[in-house]
Amino acid sequence: MSAGAHGTGEIEREVARRRTFAIISHPDAGKTTLTEKLLLYGGALREAGAVRGQRSARHATSDWLELEQQRGISVSSSALYFDYNGHRVNILDTPGHQDFSEDTYRTLMAADSAVMLMDAAKGVEEQTRKLFQVCRLRRIPIFTFVNKMDRFGREGLDLMSEIEEILGIDAVPVDWPVGSGAQFRGVYDRMRERLLLYSGGEHGTTRVDQEVFEGTLDDPEIREVLGSGYDDLAENLELIQGAGAELDLEAVQAGEQTPMFFGSALTNYAVEPFLERFLSMAPCPGARLSDQGGIDPVGHPFSGFVFKIQANMDPDHRDRVAFLRVCSGRFTKGATTQHERTGKSLRLANSTLIMGSDRHEVDSAYPGDVVGLFDPGIFRIGDTVSDEGDFAYAGIPSFSPESFMRVEVAATLKRKSLEKGIAQLVQEGAVQLFEAHDAAAVTWILGAMGPLQFEVMRHRLKGEYRVDLELTSLPFKLARWPQGDFDPDLFRHAERIKVVRDGEGRFAILAHNDWDVQRALERHEGLVLSDTADPHLFEAAR
Ligand code: G4P
Repeated sequence: MSAGAHGTGEIEREVARRRTFAIISHPDAGKTTLTEKLLLYGGALREAGAVRGQRSARHATSDWLELEQQRGISVSSSALYFDYNGHRVNILDTPGHQDFSEDTYRTLMAADSAVMLMDAAKGVEEQTRKLFQVCRLRRIPIFTFVNKMDRFGREGLDLMSEIEEILGIDAVPVDWPVGSGAQFRGVYDRMRERLLLYSGGEHGTTRVDQEVFEGTLDDPEIREVLGSGYDDLAENLELIQGAGAELDLEAVQAGEQTPMFFGSALTNYAVEPFLERFLSMAPCPGARLSDQGGIDPVGHPFSGFVFKIQANMDPDHRDRVAFLRVCSGRFTKGATTQHERTGKSLRLANSTLIMGSDRHEVDSAYPGDVVGLFDPGIFRIGDTVSDEGDFAYAGIPSFSPESFMRVEVAATLKRKSLEKGIAQLVQEGAVQLFEAHDAAAVTWILGAMGPLQFEVMRHRLKGEYRVDLELTSLPFKLARWPQGDFDPDLFRHAERIKVVRDGEGRFAILAHNDWDVQRALERHEGLVLSDTADPHLFEAAR
């Protein structure tokens, strides 16, 4: 069915009103709180706090999510949506722990922009930096929200230069804070020339409308309201102006400039003005690159790609859900489309829009939306589905793991379940599987970004497949993939390098550190090593 059959006008309108983004932050900066408040202002929550509530409801129903609770971290991600001022807003939740930065990367593949959230007292933290780098790979626009202004925080100028120095992106304040903590008076909106007064203290579940004073800085009323905070504000704004920090939407779209906002999610302060401005500046879904060039969201019939697979979300229904980002045309429940990798026809029968842990059946969806498809085991991360059936979206590259474990296969009786469980988790992209062929024996080696992923894996294998996973830590810290011709005997006697095959049967080498890799490159002329199995995909993803 072509886009034309539904009318491109309808699709054009739906695309133009959609904003699909992810929030990235260091744990504890306030991502859950901000998400709740966005939902509150979006009318999707009657009472703020339900995101947390939903989370705990999930803990109650899902076994492996217990781990999240025990460790106080978020390892699963979901999508949320709401309507605001005519916009359809899709928020893609990203895991908060750095061991899951690869999941974050995959989620960002489905996002059109990102909100970088930071704690005003802490600035750019380790995880912010890591996730920011991931955004950079995608070159999507990044908007900065400095949170917790109701607490004593660092100077705005200090935060601004930290963003520029550590992250290498120009931070351009859209608004500017007057004081912080007990002295916090509000923010002055530079672009709209108005003061949003902070009235303090409302931790709540009700919407708070800020008292607004329209006017330039010369306005005596603003001077009077701010009292002793006024001089500081005037001085800071002059400095910012003098430094020539002007908002340039093209530079924002290119990921070279980040508009910067200040507020306090907990006290509902400056959240709605942020949402409004963000929605007016963030891009709607655009053309996405495929092996046949850019696919325009309006000009093509339905297409999308799978960016996440999650099995056993609900242990009562041993199901597997493939999360599909719609990229063009209209998704219609029950329609028949093409699965590019297998070349088979596919009926889009069971389709749900995901709202946290709730699922709603959907009949249609548009570019930018995330649809959960019931997956009988046919999907892989990165798969394309399209009505035209003759193109594939640029796939999703895998990072080199940073932690490796050997699988001990002790209880042979359980081998089948173990194999099934590992295969499932590998398909979800939770871990990477390598095989080392030594003499007659084959050893399984699992690679992950960090130890927490192994812990989740062990927990899930036990809960879902009833097998105990025994792992032995290996000294390797990275994998590299040889490009072009490669002779596996090259490293037959090497002590610090091991030749393996990855899940797709490609040769890879595991090494202790970068130095080993450098030495191998120096010793073996013509050897080319890539830090991803699919280097072309990183380029294509940009
Ligand atoms: P995360 O998802 O990024 O990990 O952060 P989360 O929203 O869970 O917030 C972490 C802590 O920071 C929470 O406090 C939360 O209430 C607090 N917080 C979030 N936004 C603000 C803000 O604007 N101002 C202040 N002062 N605090 C904020 P907690 O004590 O760890 O949890 P809770 O008992 O409040 O739930």
